[in-house]
Amino acid sequence: MRWSALAGVVAVALLLWASVRLWAAPDVIQPIQFPHKTHIEQNLQCTSCHERAEKDAVAGRPPTALCLTCHSGGDGTAEIKKISAYENGGEIPWRRVWRLPAHVFFPHRTHVVVAKLQCQTCHGPMETLTRPPARPLKTLAMDDCIRCHEKAAAKSAGNAAVPAAVSGARPLSTDCNACHR
Ligand code: HEC
Ligand code: HEC
Ligand code: HEC
Ligand code: HEC
Ligand code: HEC
Repeated sequence: MRWSALAGVVAVALLLWASVRLWAAPDVIQPIQFPHKTHIEQNLQCTSCHERAEKDAVAGRPPTALCLTCHSGGDGTAEIKKISAYENGGEIPWRRVWRLPAHVFFPHRTHVVVAKLQCQTCHGPMETLTRPPARPLKTLAMDDCIRCHEKAAAKSAGNAAVPAAVSGARPLSTDCNACHR
């Protein structure tokens, strides 16, 4: 009886510790208060700035030179003026917000170009943000990745036009090495 009560106390303490750690995950603070919303309203596509997403595993961040095509000459608000500090070739030191553990491989190109998924499926409504996200709007656990891969495999079963990765030659829902490298 006493032991099980002790076990209960330990379990509650562990749970509390875990949730406090989760809440205490430090907010990401970016060097410039970049608003996604304002820029999407300028009719920019996500891939106008994150163009590597269509070519590469990583999506990347836009080069300072791209910001300067619209924000040169030092005009604008205090936040816009901060861009000129990087005018002579330096890149703005943006910090990463979304990050999987190092043992997981995630290719953007396959998901954006081949699977034709919207960025929002995994990143949430970035186009509504008036300041940089301090933490991911949405995250993917291993189960989320595998659930979508299973759905894609089921949909494409028997369809010769669908790439082998989905149709089962290399089942993405069960082959650990597809994602863990
Ligand atoms: C004018 C250029 C521009 C456009 C257009 C743009 N972004 Fe961004 N994006 C940035 C910059 C700069 C950052 C880094 C600052 C920040 O987090 O807000 C960023 C950061 C991000 C991040 C966080 C990356 C990380 O570090 O983990 C995601 C996700 C993202 N953008 C998705 C999108 C999506 C989805 C769209 C389209 C709805 C989009 N972006 C349109 C410039 C842009
Ligand atoms: C296609 C043109 C264009 C590009 C490219 C662009 N911007 Fe903008 N940006 C605008 C416009 C237009 C506004 C809204 C009007 C304004 O405040 O000047 C704006 C607003 C902003 C603001 C908000 C200012 C405030 O205080 O409300 C920031 C910060 C900013 N841009 C930073 C950036 C950064 C950093 C980049 C590069 C990653 C970038 N912009 C790329 C056109 C652009
Ligand atoms: C199927 C889910 C999914 C889709 C679709 C997706 N992303 Fe991502 N994105 C991720 C994951 C997962 C990470 C973290 C990757 C890592 O840590 O290796 C990430 C990271 C990022 C990053 C920061 C790291 C980097 O690669 O530069 C940016 C920026 C980004 N995504 C932008 C985009 C944009 C823009 C689109 C649409 C063109 C998009 N993503 C579509 C899941 C997705
Ligand atoms: C579709 C991609 C995918 C496949 C397939 C996959 N994983 Fe994962 N796995 C992930 C992602 C993403 C994470 C990190 C997020 C998380 O922990 O949920 C992860 C995390 C893990 C972790 C946790 C490691 C840690 O840092 O805590 C283990 C263990 C693991 N995977 C084992 C496996 C095994 C064994 C298989 C094969 C049966 C497998 N995975 C198949 C995507 C995948
Ligand atoms: C909403 C659906 C969806 C989600 C969520 C998703 N994927 Fe995928 N993924 C796909 C589809 C569809 C393909 C197959 C594309 C093709 O080859 O036709 C794919 C392919 C892949 C491939 C094989 C790429 C190649 O070129 O061989 C890897 C690796 C992968 N995904 C990893 C991940 C990881 C890791 C996550 C979670 C962080 C994830 N995916 C989340 C739909 C998804």
